[in-house]
Amino acid sequence: MYNYVHGGDVYSLPEGKKVIDFSANINPLGLPRGVKNALKAAINVCADYPDPFCRKLTEKLARYHNLEQKYIFLSNGAADVLFKLALAIKPGKALLLAPTFADYEKALATVNCKIDYFGLSAGNDFRVDDSILTKINNDTDLVIICNPNNPTGQLTEETLLLKILDKCRSTGTYLLVDECFMDFVDKEKGFSLKKYLSEYDNLIILKAFTKTYAMAGIRLGYCLTSNEDIIDKCRENGQDWSVSTLAQAAGLSALDEEEYLAKSKEYIKKERSYLLQNLHKLGFKVYGSEANYIFFAAKNLPRLAEKLEKDGFLIRKCANYHNLDEHYYRIAVRTTSQNKLLIKAVRKLLKNENFASNN
Ligand SMILES: Cc1ncc(COP(=O)(O)O)c(C=O)c1O
Repeated sequence: MYNYVHGGDVYSLPEGKKVIDFSANINPLGLPRGVKNALKAAINVCADYPDPFCRKLTEKLARYHNLEQKYIFLSNGAADVLFKLALAIKPGKALLLAPTFADYEKALATVNCKIDYFGLSAGNDFRVDDSILTKINNDTDLVIICNPNNPTGQLTEETLLLKILDKCRSTGTYLLVDECFMDFVDKEKGFSLKKYLSEYDNLIILKAFTKTYAMAGIRLGYCLTSNEDIIDKCRENGQDWSVSTLAQAAGLSALDEEEYLAKSKEYIKKERSYLLQNLHKLGFKVYGSEANYIFFAAKNLPRLAEKLEKDGFLIRKCANYHNLDEHYYRIAVRTTSQNKLLIKAVRKLLKNENFASNN
């Protein structure tokens, strides 16, 4: 039977059950008002097929990133881009981090790609280090680095990424860097490899509107690469209308939301710091967590997710990621009041746990 492995499955809960969903990493400020208005206006043109080449959105994105339009391929969410890239590249062997986002492996399975893992460990705070370079050789067709990584929230430094990129070029390997959560990283630490796109035609960058602008239900993502052959093949390997009229309108409007984005970053920084401090005080081991989600181990509170679900909170259990077990969890940074409610609920659970074990 098919097994859905992601967070955010609020639809599986009994009807009427109210939960606060910390299991999907969506911007806590919600869909920007401008995007809502753009969606309403776009309803009037939904009778027609959407523009198959997303011309207006591609043009605006190119200006936004200061890149050529031919570097951009848009699709039905970043996840959809992954499946098209798998078909475009058809890698025989790929190197993935472990743990990392599950859909890389799922997309690669559609082309029977063999997977090699670069294991991340708690001892090293789940960081990628130089030893990854020894795992890349002439047999490696594709390396995927999620930066910051999901679920760990850990960033890989630019200097190491450049070494990986160079190594990949020398071995004839594509490097896919998933920057879907980079928009949430603090200004001082955040960076993109997009400035290397023209120099390296083996580099592909993955981006999502879904998380940054809280529009996961609309589905809009894209990749950037100077490799036109890859983009052509992505187009050949899917339907022509994978970006709906509504998604294109939402994307066009979202790109104007500079203030919303700056405000989101500041808000997330403050709330993340509140959650980090409190999770730490509760005795949990917190890792990385540079984006809008926090990754931690709760060895002192078994079955935390199940207990919280009873109290009306969904959090992401991480036991189904490679290299992780039932002690690991990921929570999204949500609104001030929701974050406070979560910490209060966990504090209460811990009190009950300590009381039960002392009696
Ligand atoms: C690292 C990462 N990349 C890509 C995606 C897919 O995003 P989208 O909703 O745009 O398909 C996700 C979704 O959770 C993710 O965590």
